[in-house]
Amino acid sequence: MVDYSVNGSVAVLMVNNPPVNALGHAVRVGLKTGIERGAKDSRVRSIVIIGKGQTFPAGADIREFGKPSKEPWLTAVGNLIETCSKPVVAAIHGTCLGGGLEIALFSHYRIAVSSARVGFPEVTLGLLPGAGGTQRLSRLTGLPVAMEMISSGRHVPAKKAKEYGIIDEIVSGDLLKTALKFAQEVQSRPFKDRCLRYKVVPNADRVEEYASAALTQVKKKYKGFEAPVTCVQAVRSSAELSYEEGMKRERDLFLQLGQSGQSKAQQYAFFAERAVTKWQMPGGSYKTAKPLPVRSTAVIGGGTMGSGIAVCLLSAGLPVYLLEQNEKFLQSGVKLIENIMAGSVKLGKVSMETAKRAATLLKPTLSYDDIKDVDLVIEAVFENLDIKKEVFSKLDKICKPSAILCTNTSTIDIDRISSATSRPEKVVGTHFFAPAYHMKLLENIYGTKTSPEAVATVMKLGKTINKVPVLVKSCHGFLANRMNAPFGSEAIFLVEEGASPQEVDQVNEDFGMPMGPFKVRDLSGIDISWRINREVAKVLGTSITKETRFLGGNRYCGLNDDFYDKGRYGRKTGKGWYLYEKVGGKNAVADPEAEEIINSYRQRRGIVKRKITPQEIFERQFYSAINEGFRILEEGICNMPEEIDISWIYGFSYPKYRGGPMFYASQIGLQRVYDRICHYHETCPYSIHWVPNRLLKKLAENNVPFTQWANHVSKSKM
Ligand code: CAA
Repeated sequence: MVDYSVNGSVAVLMVNNPPVNALGHAVRVGLKTGIERGAKDSRVRSIVIIGKGQTFPAGADIREFGKPSKEPWLTAVGNLIETCSKPVVAAIHGTCLGGGLEIALFSHYRIAVSSARVGFPEVTLGLLPGAGGTQRLSRLTGLPVAMEMISSGRHVPAKKAKEYGIIDEIVSGDLLKTALKFAQEVQSRPFKDRCLRYKVVPNADRVEEYASAALTQVKKKYKGFEAPVTCVQAVRSSAELSYEEGMKRERDLFLQLGQSGQSKAQQYAFFAERAVTKWQMPGGSYKTAKPLPVRSTAVIGGGTMGSGIAVCLLSAGLPVYLLEQNEKFLQSGVKLIENIMAGSVKLGKVSMETAKRAATLLKPTLSYDDIKDVDLVIEAVFENLDIKKEVFSKLDKICKPSAILCTNTSTIDIDRISSATSRPEKVVGTHFFAPAYHMKLLENIYGTKTSPEAVATVMKLGKTINKVPVLVKSCHGFLANRMNAPFGSEAIFLVEEGASPQEVDQVNEDFGMPMGPFKVRDLSGIDISWRINREVAKVLGTSITKETRFLGGNRYCGLNDDFYDKGRYGRKTGKGWYLYEKVGGKNAVADPEAEEIINSYRQRRGIVKRKITPQEIFERQFYSAINEGFRILEEGICNMPEEIDISWIYGFSYPKYRGGPMFYASQIGLQRVYDRICHYHETCPYSIHWVPNRLLKKLAENNVPFTQWANHVSKSKM
C-alpha cells in the first residue's frame, strides 16, 4: 500500500491504494513504517510522500467509518511526519483532500502540479477534519480562509492554494523527479519553523469578529446542516486554545458529529450518488454498453425548460441548435438563454469565458434541416402527447440514423412517444428538473425498445453536463414525479380538510425542504398544474368540472382550480397561495383573500375545518411518497433505493442530511412507517396511494436491513 524506495539521499513513500489512494488502515501503517524507516536510514536526508496513479491521497477511507477504528490513527501518523528528524515533502497531484491534506499539512513542504486541487470536504460527509486540519490550516492561511474552506468543503485549485500559503511551489514536468530535486535542495535548510504546530494563528485577536461573520454565512447557506457550524467552532478554537487543547477540542467535535444521524445520512448519500452510476436495464448495463460520441446537439423548444437545457449543454462546451417554430419564440428563447448566462456569471457560477464561448456555440434556427447531422436532440416542447409525436415524427425523417432522440417529458410513457418514429431504440427520456440549469438531477428513462447504447449515451451526457443521472424504466410519471404526486396531493388534501398552506409549508421547511409545496406551486405556476390536471383528465378520457371529486379513481381536490379561476397563478401574477410584494416577487406572505378562497371552497363542499397536527401533515405527505417509492421498487421502475433517494436529493432538494426518503424510512423503522400507512389507508380511504405496499410489508415484517432491500426487490420481481 505504501512503497518505500530510496533515490540518492531521498526516501520516497509512494502511496498505492487505487482508485483514490484513500488513507485506509494499511496505508496508515505503510506511512508510519515508511517514516520510521526513512528516519533511521543512514542514506536518507529527506523524505517525499507522493501518490501513485491519479492522485495524492483523497482522504480517509470512508468505508472504514462507523467500524471500530484501528491504530495507527491519522493524527499519530501525522505527528510522526511533523516531528521527523528529516524534512518531509508532500508532492501533490490530483485531489489532495481531507486526511490527504492533513498529511500534507503535517509535512514540512508542499509542492503541487498546477492541475492539483486541495480541500477539506469532510463537511459534505457531515464531519470535520479530524486529524488536525482545523487547527493547522488557520495557522497557515489565517482564520477567514480556514473557516470558509473547511465549512464549505470547497476544492481549491493549486494556484489559489499557493496564494493562500497552502502550497509552497507550483511545479511542472514529472512530479516525482521535481520532488526529488526539491527534497534534495531543502536538506541543508533548518525546518523546525516549518512545523505548523509552532506557528501562531494570524490575527487571533479578531477571532470573535471572523467567527461571527462565518457563522452568519454558513447558517444562511447551509440551513439545517450541523457540520458547517461545528467546523467554524473547531477552527475558532485554534485561535482561542493552545495547539494541544485545540487538537483535543477538534477530536471532541469530530466524535460528536460522527455520532449524529446527519453524518450517517450524508455518508450514505456519498456512496448512493456513486451507486446510481452503476446502471442496469434489460440487455445491458454500464459495464457492457458503450456511449456514442456527442459532439453536437439540438434542443427543440426555447421555452423555460428548453432554454435551461440549452444552457446546460452550452456551459459544457457543446454546440447547440435551438429550434423554434417562429421568430418570436426563437428570439424569446435566445433572450432567456442570455439572461440565464448573465445571471450565472453575476453569481460567479459560470466564468465570463464560458459565457462568451456559449454565445458562439448557440445556433438559433427555425429549420429542421439544420439539425440533420447533430449527434443528439432533446425535445422540450409542451407536455402534450400529440405535439411530441409530431416533433418525433419530423426528427425521425430528418436526423441521421445514429442520432439519439431524447424527450424531456416529465410524465409521458417513452413508448408512446417513440412509436412516432421508425427507430424506437434511439429514443430515450432525459427529464430535467426546473430550473434545468440549476437542479442536478437528470432522470434518464428507457422505454421497452430503447437500446442500452442510447442509455449509455445519455448517462454519459449527464456527467458531461455536470448533472447526476439516474436511470429509470418508463411508466407514467417515472420515478420522481410519480412519488411527488401523492406528496403534492396530500398537501392540498390537508388544506382542503383544515390546514393552512402556511402550516403545511412550515412542516416541510422545518424538516429541511428548502420550500414548502405551496411556495413551490406558486413558483412553478398554478396555471401549469391546472393544465397538467386537464392533460391527465384527457388521457383518462374524462374532464374536470367544479363537481369533480375523483380522477382516475383517486381523490381529487379542486382548490387549485379555484385559485386558477381567480387569476392567481403564483409569483408570476404577484399572488397565488400567497401574496407577493410585486408581480414576480419572492417574498411570500399569508393573504386573507387566499384564505377566503379556501374557506368558501370548504363551505361549498360541506367540509368542516379541523385542526391538523404537524405530525399528521408530515406523515401524510412523506409516508404516502415512501409507500409509492416501495411500489416503484417492486415494479422494477428502478433497481435500488439509492436511485430514489438521489432523485429526491437532486430533483427536489430533499435535505441531504436526512439521506433521502427511503433511507429516512429505514431510520424511522419500516414497521412504524408501514403501521402509519395502514392507519391512513383506513382514515383516508379515497386515495389509491394509501394502499399499503406488499414489498414494504414484507421488508417490515422480516426486519430486513436497508442494505439488503435491493436483493428483495429483484426477488419480488421474479
Ligand atoms: N474513501 C473510500 N472510497 C472512496 C473515497 C474515500 N475517501 N473517495 C472515493 N472513493 C471511491 C468511490 O466510492 C468510488 O468507488 P466505486 O468506483 O466503487 O464507486 C471510487 O473511489 C472513485 O470515486 P469517484 O467516482 O468519486 O471518482 P472521481 O474521480 O469522480 O472523484 C474524488 C474523485 C474527487 C476524490 C471523489 O471520489 C471524492 O470527492 N471523494 C471523497 C473525498 C473525501 O470526502 N475525502 C475526505 C474523507 S474524510 C476524511 O479524510 C476525514 C478525516 O480526516 C478523518
